[in-house]
Amino acid sequence: MKILVTGACGQVGSHVAELLLGRGNSVLGIDNLATGRAEHLPPQKNLELVMGTIADNALVEDAMARFQPDAIVHTAAAYKDPDDYANDALTNVVGMANLVQSAKRHGVRRFIYFQTALCYGVKPLQQPIALDHPLFPGNSSYAISKTAAEDYLKISGLDYVSFRLANVIGPRNTSGPLPIFFQRLSEGKKCFVTKARRDFVFVGDLAANVVKACDGVGHGVYHFSSGTDVAIKELYDAVVAAMALNTYPEPEVRELGADDAPSILLDPSRTFADFGAIKFTPLSNTVEEAVAYYRKFGVVGGYTHLKHDTKKAS
Ligand SMILES: NC(=O)c1ccc[n+]([C@@H]2O[C@H](COP(=O)([O-])OP(=O)(O)OC[C@H]3O[C@@H](n4cnc5c(N)ncnc54)[C@H](O)[C@@H]3O)[C@@H](O)[C@H]2O)c1
Repeated sequence: MKILVTGACGQVGSHVAELLLGRGNSVLGIDNLATGRAEHLPPQKNLELVMGTIADNALVEDAMARFQPDAIVHTAAAYKDPDDYANDALTNVVGMANLVQSAKRHGVRRFIYFQTALCYGVKPLQQPIALDHPLFPGNSSYAISKTAAEDYLKISGLDYVSFRLANVIGPRNTSGPLPIFFQRLSEGKKCFVTKARRDFVFVGDLAANVVKACDGVGHGVYHFSSGTDVAIKELYDAVVAAMALNTYPEPEVRELGADDAPSILLDPSRTFADFGAIKFTPLSNTVEEAVAYYRKFGVVGGYTHLKHDTKKAS
């Protein structure tokens, strides 16, 4: 099998590419290193990396025409500057338009996408959130553009899977509180945690199911989530434990901000029905792997895509 992986140097893309290469598939990766790092996917047999943007239609078309992929795993996304609407639109919307139209021209059989739970808004109407919950992406440029992209995929006629994701973490995670906790604790600095709860899932567990999706499992929209949440403070405690710190500053616990969801629980029942039962990696193991990664490669990022969240956990 030949699989085109966009965002191949990012957290999810590199883990998926590793699994595909490990079983003998050929991978063509596209990445502009906006948030990814080349060292996440070193040169190896059956791997070609194209450094550039999916907003460049000629680049996408050339890669597709040369490689003729069986499937596309589209993980590339822009999110690191909540004020950069143009870049979000170029990468997330124009990039998707380029990919789906080129995929159709070249007869690509499967298209795998990754959507944010922010598509349901920051005040979801139900918990757990069902797949038919109305979409309210107006909370951020990121959510607006990711949702427009999902809409383009839906009307494309391609055979697709769109995974709407819980908080995916592990090695190579550059967004959200985990890298910030590690960085600040490494420097002996105090953190703060809000009273929010989140469903943190291990990137390797997602990657294994993306490979299944490449092989033909699933059609349409799915939640990738465990369906259970933990307090952000529990994530903090897991980082402290993984770093084996004897002394560390107790975090300040803050009330939720006006635009902060107390919890975002996505109902995973359709995923379990179609992909089979998923044995989720425990949070402690996930965080240990992430800490080992940060120790080796350092922290770059700590991005957040919600403007109101810019000081979260800092
Ligand atoms: N990690 C999560 O918790 C989470 C939650 C919801 C949705 N998602 C979605 O999952 C996907 C993967 O997320 P991730 O955690 O691996 O993020 P990531 O930042 O680690 O990976 C994204 C990759 O895309 C690359 N990229 C960005 N703009 C590009 C462009 N114009 N052209 C080519 N490459 C580009 C980046 O350099 C990076 O390597 C994204 O689509 C994201 O929107 C992630």
